[in-house]
Amino acid sequence: MEGTISNPLGTRIAVVTGGNKGIGLEVCRQLAASGVTVVLTARDETRGADAVEKLREQGVVGVIFHQLEVTDASSIARLAEFLKTRFGRLDILVNNAAVGGIEPVDDPSFGPKPVGEQYFRSEELKQELNDAGNLTEERLDELLDTFLKDFEAGAPALEARGWPDEFASYKVAKAAVNAYSRIMARRHPELRVNCAHPGYVRTDMTRNSGLLTPEEGASNVVKVALLPSGGPTGVFFAMGKEASFL
Ligand SMILES: NC(=O)c1ccc[n+]([C@@H]2O[C@H](COP(=O)([O-])OP(=O)(O)OC[C@H]3O[C@@H](n4cnc5c(N)ncnc54)[C@H](OP(=O)(O)O)[C@@H]3O)[C@@H](O)[C@H]2O)c1
Repeated sequence: MEGTISNPLGTRIAVVTGGNKGIGLEVCRQLAASGVTVVLTARDETRGADAVEKLREQGVVGVIFHQLEVTDASSIARLAEFLKTRFGRLDILVNNAAVGGIEPVDDPSFGPKPVGEQYFRSEELKQELNDAGNLTEERLDELLDTFLKDFEAGAPALEARGWPDEFASYKVAKAAVNAYSRIMARRHPELRVNCAHPGYVRTDMTRNSGLLTPEEGASNVVKVALLPSGGPTGVFFAMGKEASFL
C-alpha cells in the first residue's frame, strides 16, 4: 500500500527502515511531529500498513507506507524508484531495521547491551575497524567473510580470532555497519552520515528488558537524523552524545 502524500509543502523526506514497530515506529512518529514527510517502510505489507494506520488514528499525519525488505535488492530498487517518482529526492535515511541474530532465551540480560559492553576482544580487529582513514569497503568485506567462516567453524575459531564472545553476529554486524557508515561519510562529504546508538531500549528485540522507553530511544536517533546540513559527519552518537566507535 502506498499513501497519497506528494509533498506539496516541500518538507524534508525521510525513509525509516523497520518502521512498523519498536524504535523505528517511534522515529517515524517523532520525525513526522517535526514536520518531516516520512516513508515508513516494513518488510511485511500488513504490519507496515497497520502501523501507518495506527499513527493516523493517533493524529499523526505525513507518514506513508512503502514495502522494504532490506536484504532484497529488488525491494530496495522498487523503493528507490518510488522515491524518485513521487518526491524526486531523499533527505533523511534512518537505517534502523535489524534482527538480534539469535533465538530469545529466558534470560533477562538477553539482547543488545549498552555500548560499553560491545568491545571486541581483539585489539587488532578493533583498531582496523576503527581506522576510518584507511579502512576500505573491500577490506571490510574481507573481514566479514572471515567472520562468517569463523562463525561457521564454531566457538573456538571465534575465540582464536578475538571476535566478541556473546551475540557475535549482532555485534560484528553493527560494527561493520558503523565502519561502512564512516567509509560513506569519507566518500560523500556533501552528505551527513552518522551512527546513533539509541540506548538500551524496551522493545521486542530486548524482550522489553531495556532501560529506556521506545520514545526515549527514538529521540536519541531523531536528534542525529535532524542534525543541520553543516553538522558533523562520520560520527558515532551514543544516547545523543558523541562517542568513540568501538
Ligand atoms: N532495543 C535496543 O536496546 C537497541 C539497542 C541498540 C541498538 N538497537 C538497534 O535499534 C534498531 C531497532 O531495534 P528495536 O529494538 O526497535 O527492534 P525491534 O522492535 O525488533 O524492531 C526491528 C525492526 O526491524 C525490522 N526488520 C528486521 N529485519 C528486517 C529486514 N530484513 N528488512 C526490513 N525490516 C526488517 C523488523 O520488522 P518485522 O516486524 O517484520 O520483524 C522491525 O520492524 C535496530 O537496528 C537495533 O539493532 C536497539
